[in-house]
Amino acid sequence: MKRLLLTLALACPPALAQTTTLPPGFTAPAGYGDRIYPALGDAGLDVTHYDLSLSATPGVDSVAGRAVLSILARRDLSQINLDFAGPGVLGVKVDGRAARHAHVGDKLLILPPGVLAAGTAFTVTVAYSGTPALHIDPADDLRLGWITQAGGSYVLSEPDGAHTFFPCNDVPADGASYSLHLDVPAGFTAIASGVQTHSQMRAGRVYTEFEQAAPIPSYALTVHIGRFERVTPPDAAGGIQIRNAFPLGLPAEVRATFDQTPAMLGVLAGWFGPYPYPVYGVAVTEDPQILALETATLSTFPARQETPATALHELAHQWFGDSLRLGDWSEVWLNEGFATYAELLWAQSQGQDTAPLLARWYARLARAPARGLVATQARQLFDANSYYRGALALHALRLKVGDALFRQILSTYVARFSGQSVRTADLLGVVGQFGGPAALEAIGPWLTGPEIPALPTTGTF
Ligand code: ARG
Ligand code: ZN
Repeated sequence: MKRLLLTLALACPPALAQTTTLPPGFTAPAGYGDRIYPALGDAGLDVTHYDLSLSATPGVDSVAGRAVLSILARRDLSQINLDFAGPGVLGVKVDGRAARHAHVGDKLLILPPGVLAAGTAFTVTVAYSGTPALHIDPADDLRLGWITQAGGSYVLSEPDGAHTFFPCNDVPADGASYSLHLDVPAGFTAIASGVQTHSQMRAGRVYTEFEQAAPIPSYALTVHIGRFERVTPPDAAGGIQIRNAFPLGLPAEVRATFDQTPAMLGVLAGWFGPYPYPVYGVAVTEDPQILALETATLSTFPARQETPATALHELAHQWFGDSLRLGDWSEVWLNEGFATYAELLWAQSQGQDTAPLLARWYARLARAPARGLVATQARQLFDANSYYRGALALHALRLKVGDALFRQILSTYVARFSGQSVRTADLLGVVGQFGGPAALEAIGPWLTGPEIPALPTTGTF
């Protein structure tokens, strides 16, 4: 028995420290098996929908929540393992009946009343209240998760901060739709991913509801609470509604960065196919320090002057990252390489010379420790390779196949995998289908590495 446990532990790193003692009846969870974050998630769960009710008061670092998860069992389940580093758990129900649970470390372990057979659909309801865990990304010291600042709260979760404010299967491979019910004091605005379906004042509080109908990874869900001005410019082509949330008093030049959203939507749709959601916009936080993040339908920005290229980058992630989500964190280049290459597509559409941009990417790549595009460590996820080697891989492919086929490859890849998780092999399947062996040969050395191929120069654009 001991030997067996040891073998299991080696094959699949434990989601909880081996020293953690569990209450009787509970077993240590194995994790989903992501190559970078093996402890996160549970491969036995397919969460299809999160219904989240969150109540918050700006200035108070506390959230009261109720999460109802609709789940499909992917195998027989005698224990349900969720990621949750959040506030104290008040109660847990499975299919409406109280269930035993243990909140240990960053896991919420739940015992259903009986074994849930593979294929069974069931719900888990978790009520909780308290202060979300402080979670810093060790790779870049960025604070992740639910963040309370002077004027309100916001969410910034990539890669693993979502489980600081709601219990979830916190791996990008398991996407889900969301219903959000947000409750904040009068005078404040709550805005979130998805379409606003309801807003009502009651007893000094504002209740607002959002529906995110298309599945997204948990890190892409966002909520912003603050004193905002909501700006809704005329709809972009294709009937996409644009709504931005700017903190009161945000300088006009900071807002102006986002004036080009309709034009950007048009240019990107021309390469990738239709924008994947009915709404888009940005929420600017009061914090000037944070990084911009591609939160679904509502990208998050710091309160400082950003470049149009960054605005464009986060918009491109709505296709690559949010709609087509990662099957594994090690292949995050499928997000960052595409969003970075989109910057070039935009620059080109604006009549700019793209040669300096390509040279800059190549120089940054040459300065960084070279690796192939599949990352092996968390600190590599957002390095120069994911962004610039990824972008240059796409450029090399484009120069080989030409613009017409390149557009066909991009739009087919998007159409085939939208709303699903992707691996590099999925992209290569499409590349091979349209471009044949020559196209695969052109992109191959960029993928495998570590040597950096020569910067492709010839081209017809
Ligand atoms: N995905 C973001 C962007 O490039 C970067 C996030 C980087 N850092 C982090 N700790 N998640 O738009
Ligand atoms: Zn990015």
